[in-house]
Amino acid sequence: MHVVGPADDFNRSLSEIIGAKIAEVERRVFPDGEICPRIVETSGLNGSNVILSMRMKSGGNPNTYLSEVLFTIRNLREELKAGKIIAVIPYFPYARQDEIFRPGEPLSSRYVAEMLEEAGADAVISVTVHLHRIKSFSDIFSRAKAVNVSGFSGIARVLKNRELKDPVVIAPDGEGIAWAKELADLMGIKEYGAFKKERDLNTGEIRTQLVEMDLRGRDVLIADDIVSTGGTMVNALAGVRKMGARRAIAAFVHPVLAPGAIDRILALADEVISSDTIEWPGSKATAVREVADAVKELL
Ligand code: R5P
Repeated sequence: MHVVGPADDFNRSLSEIIGAKIAEVERRVFPDGEICPRIVETSGLNGSNVILSMRMKSGGNPNTYLSEVLFTIRNLREELKAGKIIAVIPYFPYARQDEIFRPGEPLSSRYVAEMLEEAGADAVISVTVHLHRIKSFSDIFSRAKAVNVSGFSGIARVLKNRELKDPVVIAPDGEGIAWAKELADLMGIKEYGAFKKERDLNTGEIRTQLVEMDLRGRDVLIADDIVSTGGTMVNALAGVRKMGARRAIAAFVHPVLAPGAIDRILALADEVISSDTIEWPGSKATAVREVADAVKELL
């Protein structure tokens, strides 16, 4: 069995836990943006079960990432004749486009799932997929097995080492209440809630409405799945500061982090705890354990 992907900390831990060798992928990008992800050592892949494990780069391009993943799966299936292919896609690109919000838009999350299946993935493992309008990650796939593991478990493991005063968990918007509840449950924190948020679908402008909660002198964990522009998290941080929180910790799974996002967050947060679902050196939590468990179950 092989883990196919970059020989980074994530894949080293994964291959150690599941007892597999790493077949390293070199992620070449040409000056014009075209890509050529090359599996450096191909011997032993013929007929071998493989776990393709690649992560998007923080501030990187989801389209480049997706092309790397699709080309590598197809290469494994068609040229290298691998056995079973399990694709580990810790941050699932386009998951937020799980609905046609305005006429004429594509249903991107489903198209991504179909492209993965067509390329040859037998199973797909992802972490805290942005599921708000669809019930289950499997709903967007037709053939491949789909497993969605928790990214908040690793975040809770880090947070348990912090001394928190009268903690409360808040989601920056109504949809995020599931994340706030999940983190609160994992931490054994009784109180959680959510602000309200409106995003202008044309301009992307975000308006956050605070809800009534007594946060004075308390430590607040702001839980979200994704931080991209940082607008949602920044508004929530400013809100809890205004409401008198003692400390504000930004706890989110996927550090997509568009340029400038982390600086705006660090100006307001006492600490940032994110997971390693995306290649970002600032991540303090890991989802490798949960991904490895899912791999073991699929094999
Ligand atoms: C939205 O539904 C998500 O859960 C995140 O809150 C959102 O994607 C964050 O985006 P941004 O950082 O651009 O505000």
